[in-house]
Amino acid sequence: MEIQTKIHIDYRIQDILGFLLSEDFVKVADTKHIQPSRMKEVQVDGENICVVNVEGKYFAINNICTHEGGPLADGTLEGYEVECPWHGSKFDVRTGEVKNPPAIEPEPAYEVKIDGNNILIKKQGKSKPSQLELTLQQKDKVEGTDVMSFKFSKQTDQVEDNKPLDHTAGQFAFFDIGGVYNDPKGQIRHFTISSSPTENFLMFGTRIRDSPYKKRLSALEEGAKVKLRGPEGQFVLHEDYSKPAVFLSGGIGVTPFRSMLKYATDKKLPVKIIMFDSNRNSNNILSYSKKSLMSGRTLIKI
Ligand code: FES
Repeated sequence: MEIQTKIHIDYRIQDILGFLLSEDFVKVADTKHIQPSRMKEVQVDGENICVVNVEGKYFAINNICTHEGGPLADGTLEGYEVECPWHGSKFDVRTGEVKNPPAIEPEPAYEVKIDGNNILIKKQGKSKPSQLELTLQQKDKVEGTDVMSFKFSKQTDQVEDNKPLDHTAGQFAFFDIGGVYNDPKGQIRHFTISSSPTENFLMFGTRIRDSPYKKRLSALEEGAKVKLRGPEGQFVLHEDYSKPAVFLSGGIGVTPFRSMLKYATDKKLPVKIIMFDSNRNSNNILSYSKKSLMSGRTLIKI
């Protein structure tokens, strides 16, 4: 009777340990598939992760560069530093720490375990950074241009704490729209949020080019879900309103100013703003800029 009980208990402990291991860590690659001084992009729970082999030791950090979304696994590795292929930011693969600008935000680092030939990464669970799921409400093509605007619900549908996105006018965010394959710039892009925090939707505008990402974006149906990471960026309105702001923009570059001007207008901020917006002709002035920016302001054509 005693022996039977012991066997039963041992089995339960093993079972529990196996359960915990499989819950916390997930296999992402075989060791022989990432040779020394090599990197590989893997996905865990929708997160893009860069797994690195430095002299037989494995490390993992987020694969999306915190500067503007470059794919780190396509960059170069020197010692413990990975260099982003887009603008040369460097990160320490052991900690995610920034070693070289222009990036200023560190990368999330992940715990790695080796089990036989398996590389395992610890899942981050529900407490991972601000990744929100949004629903596309409306998309519009701007007449006579290759610009499209995309408007999303601002309330998160399912994610952490169910908090709405809280951004500062002028910031940007990364958008993972899913279903993007073989895009040389990766599966995720960042866009400036052109809506103001005072509006009950989130919007961005972009030129539609011939890339897999942009093609997929333009084909999204209303109701489609996209993932957003952010917001990020420090290109925002200054806080000393005794000093005026002067904005210079051209074409689609108007988006952060649209957000800041709308915010300043809605909040009746006591700040003087002078804006120069350059376009090929008046038809090319984005209509959402004209409508939202110029309410209560004077548009001077030169
Ligand atoms: S996107 Fe990586 S350095 Fe700019």
